[in-house]
Amino acid sequence: MGVADLDLVPRPTSLRVLAGRYALTPETPLRAPGSIAALVRAVLRPFPPAGGDGPGLTFTLVDDPELGAEGYRLAVSTGGVQATGSDAGLRWAVQTLRQMLPPTLDDARWSIPCVEIVDIPRYPWRGSLLDVARWYHRVEFLYRYVDLMAMHKLNTLHLHLTDDQGWRFEVRRYPRLTEVGGYRRESNRGHARHRRFDGTPHGGWYSQAQLRDLVGYAARRGVRVMPEIDVPGHMQAAIAAYPELGNEPGRQLEVRTSWGISSHILNVSDATVRFVKDVLDEVVEVFPFELVHLGGDEVPPDEWAGSRVAARRVRSTGLSRVDDLVGWWATELATHLAGHGRRVAVWDEVLEYEPPPGAVIFAWRDESRVVAARKAGFEVVAVPQEYAYLDWAESDRPDEPLAINGTLPLSRVYGYQPGDVYGVQGQVWTEYLPTPDLVEWRAFPRLVALAEVGWSAQREPFTGFRERLRGHLRRLDALRVHYRPLD
Ligand code: ACM
Repeated sequence: MGVADLDLVPRPTSLRVLAGRYALTPETPLRAPGSIAALVRAVLRPFPPAGGDGPGLTFTLVDDPELGAEGYRLAVSTGGVQATGSDAGLRWAVQTLRQMLPPTLDDARWSIPCVEIVDIPRYPWRGSLLDVARWYHRVEFLYRYVDLMAMHKLNTLHLHLTDDQGWRFEVRRYPRLTEVGGYRRESNRGHARHRRFDGTPHGGWYSQAQLRDLVGYAARRGVRVMPEIDVPGHMQAAIAAYPELGNEPGRQLEVRTSWGISSHILNVSDATVRFVKDVLDEVVEVFPFELVHLGGDEVPPDEWAGSRVAARRVRSTGLSRVDDLVGWWATELATHLAGHGRRVAVWDEVLEYEPPPGAVIFAWRDESRVVAARKAGFEVVAVPQEYAYLDWAESDRPDEPLAINGTLPLSRVYGYQPGDVYGVQGQVWTEYLPTPDLVEWRAFPRLVALAEVGWSAQREPFTGFRERLRGHLRRLDALRVHYRPLD
């Protein structure tokens, strides 16, 4: 039996299948650090209880430099299961063990093949962006999404919390951000280019308590949550809530109803900078992760070009043109966040305006930006559209659900070779994904391919991956994931 027979996804660094099997029952003893034991019980339910004597499942924390931050060893023999690794590594070992069991765990007794696995991820950052701004998705779905990420050893959920079309993060100090910014009058029906609307109000937001609970749940599964507050563009919902943030403070905008990029951006007054810093002060209270994503993408500078406040700011800061205020915003906020011990992430546009030192660049426009950001000496998370934008259609077949753009087939995602980067991430923008079913259709199975790009240093030809994926899809079936079937 080889790797393919076990259908492990992502493919482990090394796997040896040995003679014999080990039988697992709900009475099998479990010995593990408390947090790992809780995860085992959550993921392998109805297996197994804690404690007990005799051979069983043993998870041991070890400090093994060879395994790095997230690697693990998993040895299954006729005498039991032994996993070793760091805390993070042991969490991934639990997921691997889960994949060795049948897709549904409703029987009381299973046997798994004896194996020796050593498994070490290729990249430290393996993520997925989920856009909850364009369509609000219930927090229950975010929990499910975290579970699906953890199953594929993806370690970072990038939550895109704010945009022109909706503000989803509760800010105690500025309640109108969600009370007003969390709701829009209607949304595009069909593709935005046709300028039709559905006449149906849409909205919703997450309380800080809800997000804190989500962050804790994700952490217990080895998934960190990076919030994104996208500034200074993509801010029309905030400006609708607080018109004084805009470049024409007397003007009352509404939360944007169509997809695409708003020309309405933040002004550059001291009061607006203070406002955003206040928001970030609440963001860091909820999200303990080291990085906060500040956006910086797609900022049309036209309003600044006509603004006296912007002209003054350009002069006082010694910049050469209003466009450079994109970089100035990032540096102002990065300095503020450094006071909280945080670093920032930004989209690759900021590279044109001197990003703050230590920023992580999310290179999205195309692969050349990945190369440019790396050359400039930054840590890069590679998310180039042509490989990692999972909101693109998977094919140009007429029965493919409506997409912003296309096409990005599974084989192309799997074939991505990101080179020397900090990591990779699958982007699930949701303009055309109003329901969890549609999100799952677009994310899966392409996110599985991307997870393997991020984890597995030794990749198979696509046909090998596809065969393994066929087996793996039975696991997604058992979870009723609404994935797009293979062609
Ligand atoms: C982006 O797609 N505007 C980052």
